[in-house]
Amino acid sequence: MLLEVKNLSVSYFLEDKEIPALRDINFDVEKGEIISIIGESGSGKTTLAKSIIRQIKKPGKIISGKVLLEGNDLLAMDYSKFKRDILWKEISYVPQASQNSLNGVMRIIDHFYDTALSHNWKNKEEVNKKAKELLKMVALDEKVLKMYPHELSGGMKQRVLIALSLLLTPKIVIMDEPVSALDVVTQRRIIDLIVNINKELGTTILFITHDIALTKYLSTKTVVMYAGRVMEIGNTYEVIFKPYHPYTQALVNSIPSIHGEISVRSIKEGEIPLHGCPFYPRCPYTMEECKVKEPDFYHVDGREVRCFMYDKVRKSNG
Ligand SMILES: Nc1ncnc2c1ncn2[C@@H]1O[C@H](COP(=O)(O)OP(=O)(O)OP(=O)(O)O)[C@@H](O)[C@H]1O
Ligand SMILES: [Mg+2]
Repeated sequence: MLLEVKNLSVSYFLEDKEIPALRDINFDVEKGEIISIIGESGSGKTTLAKSIIRQIKKPGKIISGKVLLEGNDLLAMDYSKFKRDILWKEISYVPQASQNSLNGVMRIIDHFYDTALSHNWKNKEEVNKKAKELLKMVALDEKVLKMYPHELSGGMKQRVLIALSLLLTPKIVIMDEPVSALDVVTQRRIIDLIVNINKELGTTILFITHDIALTKYLSTKTVVMYAGRVMEIGNTYEVIFKPYHPYTQALVNSIPSIHGEISVRSIKEGEIPLHGCPFYPRCPYTMEECKVKEPDFYHVDGREVRCFMYDKVRKSNG
């Protein structure tokens, strides 16, 4: 297995309280696959991405768990070794709202030089050549290298960031809502680009999104998150067309007909109960047991689902 997240729990510690952002997350990623991580705002997707690349900063803290890359625990590794050997080289990250993450006073090529230099790659000519190749791959003219971020459109900036994430040919790229801020046409082009990268370079992609339609188009496997838990994992097509978890069912049914985007709604303060299944206050299948006990995973039909009522949900799909 390329990447295994095992029993990962992360909290944010505020003055008077602990916000449990991830609880006991488990999933695997196979080499070469595109896997979607889907869930509404506040479900912990970005926290998950940042945990994998060890960018959880105070007040956040990884409480327990492992992130195994080809069997080696990244969380247990000396941080300087992680930064030198893993970040960008094995796993890179395209951050959420990433268009703002380019440095406004640096030309695009300098972003490539900087990243290369931080990994001791000093030959500017070589970096330049690689940057041109990558821009070609993301369908940008090499002129862009001499430009500043403010001279580029949102879609162009996103392409630059994707190209940059590939500079050190990582095995895995984590993309955190890479198209959310873009118009529908640009979205589609970038999605096609991601498919192309996966096919041509064999790059494994963790695609974080709100959008069921994009999940369906892109990924072979889907992880559904709610309130810091994984609720359901399975083959994308099956998860979307035959959800076994009531939360997945709610997510899928909230697709409006034109764009396929779910209504983006944040989990409200105080909505997550202290005991039982975190979804029970919003769940149409709730029974007494759900209020006192959090279900463990059931492994059924090649699916993992965290719900006592999965059989009833399964049958309701017809
Ligand atoms: N720096 C922080 N300090 C305190 N709480 C945080 C911090 N970052 C995230 N959280 C909390 O952790 C939980 C998960 O947040 P996270 O940003 O991982 O969710 P998300 O699924 O990426 O949401 P979105 O779709 O809005 O990007 C939320 O309750 C959020 O309020
Ligand atoms: Mg996020």
